[in-house]
Amino acid sequence: MLSVHPLLQFSMLLLGGYVLFLGLFRAMSLHGGRRTLFRWRRHVALGHLAMAGWLMGLAGGLIIVRITWHSFLISGLHGRIALAMIPFILFGWASGYWMDRTKKKRTLLPLLHGLNNLLVLLAALAQIYTGYRVFQTFVLGQ
Ligand code: HEM
Ligand code: HEM
Repeated sequence: MLSVHPLLQFSMLLLGGYVLFLGLFRAMSLHGGRRTLFRWRRHVALGHLAMAGWLMGLAGGLIIVRITWHSFLISGLHGRIALAMIPFILFGWASGYWMDRTKKKRTLLPLLHGLNNLLVLLAALAQIYTGYRVFQTFVLGQ
């Protein structure tokens, strides 16, 4: 049970990396003046999946910690970074949803969306290290 959360979050990180890769094609055409192919629908569908996965994994981590150790936010930095990620995940998700529903020519909102989601990805990357420390301390008992 305790490895479901790390595995889920790690696979969502890989997925998020791919969604970013797709988004970079859009950035190249919007800000670099290059003609590129942006796989809009794939970016949106997989972006939804990554955001939902991260949020569910985050809630799952909190719940598993609650059930196993009868406590909240015992993991220090790992839990704090996770809480700080929530508004960024919500903004990235909402802005993407908005741009998909009301399509028009934009430059500022896509830029904010892209930079925001890059931050989320970097935080998720850092969570591998802090999460590994949690795993060592609490699960392996070292
Ligand atoms: C891991 C999550 C995500 C990452 C890393 C990401 C990244 C990016 C990047 C880098 C761009 C190009 C920004 C620019 O040109 O300045 C972009 C554009 C876009 N993203 Fe995302 N995104 C993510 C999730 C989502 C989600 C969940 C949705 C929809 C629900 C979405 C919808 C869009 C749309 C519609 C655009 C094009 C906007 C336009 O050009 O008008 N993205 N994204
Ligand atoms: C987006 C990335 C991640 C987020 C948002 C996240 C969030 C969380 C949260 C909120 C908790 C509960 C902490 C507490 O109540 O003290 C937790 C627990 C935990 N996290 Fe993460 N986490 C992420 C990635 C990872 C990764 C990549 C690993 C493993 C390398 C990991 C390992 C753990 C472990 C071992 C626990 C203890 C409970 C359990 O095993 O399910 N996390 N995480």
